[in-house]
Formats: sequence, structure tokens, C-alpha cells
Amino acid sequence: MSDGNAGLFDLSGRVAIVTGTSRGLGQYMARALAKAGADLVLTSRTRESLRAFEAEIKGLGRRAVSLELDVRNLESIEGMAAEAEKAFGRLDILVNNAGCNVRKPALDVTWDDWNLICPANDCARIWTHH
Ligand SMILES: NC(=O)c1ccc[n+]([C@@H]2O[C@H](COP(=O)([O-])OP(=O)(O)OC[C@H]3O[C@@H](n4cnc5c(N)ncnc54)[C@H](OP(=O)(O)O)[C@@H]3O)[C@@H](O)[C@H]2O)c1
Repeated sequence: MSDGNAGLFDLSGRVAIVTGTSRGLGQYMARALAKAGADLVLTSRTRESLRAFEAEIKGLGRRAVSLELDVRNLESIEGMAAEAEKAFGRLDILVNNAGCNVRKPALDVTWDDWNLICPANDCARIWTHH
């Protein structure tokens, strides 16, 4: 991702949670926020899969903690938020990126597929905001 916006935003001293940072768009957004000065809370359903990215963020000179989060589970959301606040003492930014898709032609999507996609992408995001 280009650094074309460097200098436009200064997020020094801010703490950002970016959910779903084990791969994909979440990593792009977390990297951009770190380059703008923010410290990062990284999440995945498996903390181990965040190890390399956490090292990358720390390499940018930011603080980072990796936490487990499954957005379909309220206890997991509340636990992640509590641990994040404990780690940094403040939370300023939430990027509700975590989600999943089942890539199929629309008419092939099953009821079970739909019930996997919807809780992860819609209901859960609202609860993460709380
Ligand atoms: N890429 C696109 O073209 C596109 C288009 C429209 C919308 N989106 C949305 O943008 C977001 C990111 O897309 P992407 O392409 O970067 O997806 P991706 O590569 O599949 O990454 C999804 C991320 O979400 C996490 N995740 C998945 N299910 C989760 C759950 N139940 N609880 C917590 N974390 C979960 C994954 O972490 P773990 O598997 O490690 O837990 C991973 O880090 C998604 O919400 C997607 O629906 C993407």
C-alpha cells in the first residue's frame, strides 16, 4: 500500500483495534494505522496466526498485542475488549473488519452457508461496537 497519505493523519498515542488481522484487508488497515502512529490490538480466532504480523507492527516502532476473538461469541468479544483495555489503558479506534464469506454463485448458497456468513458479518459487528 502506498504511503501517499503519510503526514495527513497523526494517530500518535492512539490505540486502534483492527479485528481480523491474521490476513487480508485487516492487515492493510492495521499497517496504515500503525504507520500513522497508532498502537495496535490485533485479533484472530487463533492467536498464533498473528505472530508474524505483530512482529511487523512492532518493527514499525508501535506497540501491538495479539488477542483471540471470535465475533460470533459474545463472551469472546467482551473478553477481547477487556484484555485490550487492560493492555493499553485506552481504546480510541475500532475497525470492525473480521468477517467471512462463502464464495459460491448466489443460487448455490445453502441455509448453513448463510448462517455462517450472517452472524460473523452483521450481528457480531454490532456487538463488537458495544
Ligand atoms: N475482499 C473483498 O473483496 C471483500 C469485499 C466485501 C467485503 N469484505 C469484507 O471485508 C472483511 C475482510 O475481507 P478479507 O478479504 O480481508 O477477508 P479474509 O482474508 O478472509 O480475512 C478475514 C479475517 O477475519 C477473521 N475472521 C473470520 N471469521 C472470524 C470470526 N468468526 N471471528 C473473528 N475473526 C474472524 C479472519 O481471522 P481468523 O480466520 O484467523 O480467525 C481473518 O483475519 C471481511 O469482513 C469481508 O467480509 C471483503
